[in-house]
Amino acid sequence: MPKDLLRPHVEHFVYQKGELHVEDVSVREVARDVGTPFYIYSASAIRARVKLLVDAMASLDVQICYAMKANSNLSLLRILAGLGCGVDLVSGGELERAQAAGFPGARMVFSGVGKTHEEIVAALDAGVHQLNVESVEELVAIDEIAGALGKVATVVLRINPDVDAGTHPKITTGTRGNKFGISYQQAPEVYALASRLSHINLVGLAVHIGSQITDVTPFRKSFERVADLVKVLRAEGLTVERLDLGGGLGVAYSPEPRFDVDAYANAIRETLGDCGCALTMEPGRFIVAEAGALVTKVLYNKEADGETFTIVDAGMNDLMRPALYGATHPAWRIKEPTEQESAVPCHLVGPVCESSDTFGRFTSLPPLEKSDFVALGVAGAYGSTMSSTYNARPLVQEVLVEGNNYFLIRRKQTVADLLQYERVNTEGSI
Ligand code: LLP
Repeated sequence: MPKDLLRPHVEHFVYQKGELHVEDVSVREVARDVGTPFYIYSASAIRARVKLLVDAMASLDVQICYAMKANSNLSLLRILAGLGCGVDLVSGGELERAQAAGFPGARMVFSGVGKTHEEIVAALDAGVHQLNVESVEELVAIDEIAGALGKVATVVLRINPDVDAGTHPKITTGTRGNKFGISYQQAPEVYALASRLSHINLVGLAVHIGSQITDVTPFRKSFERVADLVKVLRAEGLTVERLDLGGGLGVAYSPEPRFDVDAYANAIRETLGDCGCALTMEPGRFIVAEAGALVTKVLYNKEADGETFTIVDAGMNDLMRPALYGATHPAWRIKEPTEQESAVPCHLVGPVCESSDTFGRFTSLPPLEKSDFVALGVAGAYGSTMSSTYNARPLVQEVLVEGNNYFLIRRKQTVADLLQYERVNTEGSI
């Protein structure tokens, strides 16, 4: 295949017999069987990513609590529960999903800046491992709710270490001036206050500085800040037993150098390795992003103002990251490019009525013809979970591959499904 043409750079996505396969399943055959668009995931790729992390962290004994906001399909969650992962969740809905997937409360971490009364009750009823608290008012609310239920809530304080993660502004969370965590300066005072509340069992700290961080340096800086804070708190006679290191580990959206997991593990070891705390981490994207793709079909090609638009049947409602963050997902034609073919510039767009409904301008795709299938790669994280039904487009189906088998793990939503929530008042004037 000519060198300038894009080919999959992620594990378990390979051309076999002239067609893209996920593990040993032909994507074209799935497309023929179930219709497009659909998300497709490799179970082996997910397992391999967990193993990569577990191996790197071996001597540190870190509990992985998968951030299920990245992808909360029950079948994927079950794989992760089976591998011994816990789960990081941020809503009552995610709590119910995690329970349905078989995660015990003891392996759940409940994060998020805006937990409602009902969500706090549900978390306490489920016996979650800990609630990660982000404000004084939230602390007080949890204390009151736990007291009313005759319970004690196990809590860690999420602090904002004021470290720039060097990532996209919309997904950075650990600098001054954003809504996340308790400010570094206020942390000792708030920690002391929390330790005095009678229905709060304060056990430690949490930190999360952002997402898609590709360099280990910001992580190291934030872990150093946490280590310093642990010393300050202990010097004041306060107990710190647990540290939650958050997520944020970056993935390869193009064939670029990989996130250095060993360097990340070393940064933990060197900054927090001897602090005597139980460690948890909350990776989401790292575990599922590269394991998934969105498969779509070319509807039309159209020339306009010297540009070729290739219109596909998936849109920004199915994969929102390009429209929302200007993110670029790699695109691979399902039919393997031949030696004779060369790249042709194309602007890959969806059918939604917005100019932001674009997957990007590609210069490394072979010619795409009507009815060709295309995969948008590295879409296993924040793809399906962020999709919407904009333009009355039902949520797409999801497929899980294991070896040479595949399973429909979410059926296509129908328009009838969408309409069932609505009522038309036929009696009055509205
Ligand atoms: N822990 C906390 C407290 C978080 O807020 C997040 C992500 C994670 C863990 C997991 O982060 P990860 O390991 O996946 O980077 N929709 C955006 C990403 C938003 C991330 C929000 N928080 C995107 O598509 O890039």
